[in-house]
Amino acid sequence: MSLTLAEMAVEVLTTADGRAKTALSRRHAAAWRAARRGDTPIAVGTANPPMQPARPARPELANPRDVPRRKPGTTEGRIALLHAVAHIELNAVDLHWDIIARFSHVPLPMGFFDDWVSAADDESKHFNLMADCLEAAGSHYGALAAHAGMWRAAEETATDLMARLAVVPMVLEARGLDVTPGMIDVFKRAKEAEAVAALETIYGEEVSHVAYGSKWFNFLCGRNDLDPKDAFHALVRKHFHGVLKPPFNEEKRADAGLPPDFYWPLTEEV
Ligand SMILES: [Fe+2]
Ligand SMILES: [Fe+2]
Repeated sequence: MSLTLAEMAVEVLTTADGRAKTALSRRHAAAWRAARRGDTPIAVGTANPPMQPARPARPELANPRDVPRRKPGTTEGRIALLHAVAHIELNAVDLHWDIIARFSHVPLPMGFFDDWVSAADDESKHFNLMADCLEAAGSHYGALAAHAGMWRAAEETATDLMARLAVVPMVLEARGLDVTPGMIDVFKRAKEAEAVAALETIYGEEVSHVAYGSKWFNFLCGRNDLDPKDAFHALVRKHFHGVLKPPFNEEKRADAGLPPDFYWPLTEEV
């Protein structure tokens, strides 16, 4: 018997090893896409995802304050940067499958599932790109400590789909759009072409993840007769700890359907 989409999501979430997780993720994404194109549909189904996804024994997870910072002007510093991005990407693989599994009971258009399967597939590619760059530099994912607490946003929003969309794609992934160009410059200056190409791929594809967040957030506001801007502000203030930090990448945020009056008011404590 073939798995439902929600069961596929749980399989990815319960796979610990990074390369194994992303391989399974890409296989399930391809199966979903093929099923959507053909005439043997895969049911969305429902599932009980774990509160926390399985992760490898390494990297050791540490408080962000205890993760040593290294200068990006050094090879070591650039390896640390790639390692941090790899960790973010692996977390993102789990986040996108988690939104599918955790909210599979919510009646939604099929396009919702298409979008997050596609985003999960992108993140799997992103993790592999970063892991490849690390290995080319003589390191690997797991060699350094990584931030603990990355899953906090998922736990905070586990019972509220609108909060999940507001905090994860529309705040956290949008932040990625702000900081990635600076990272690309670091590797350009170091003439590390493989990392530049990988980060440019990531940068290009992340816009669509923010756009999916914005699209489905607005859809749910419409369904619930809510003002999107007010609802966004209320949910981010409730579930995201801290203020948003400029400078913002206004151009890419606009491409992703995030208007300035959504994020600027959140730069200040209320
Ligand atoms: Fe990504
Ligand atoms: Fe993403």
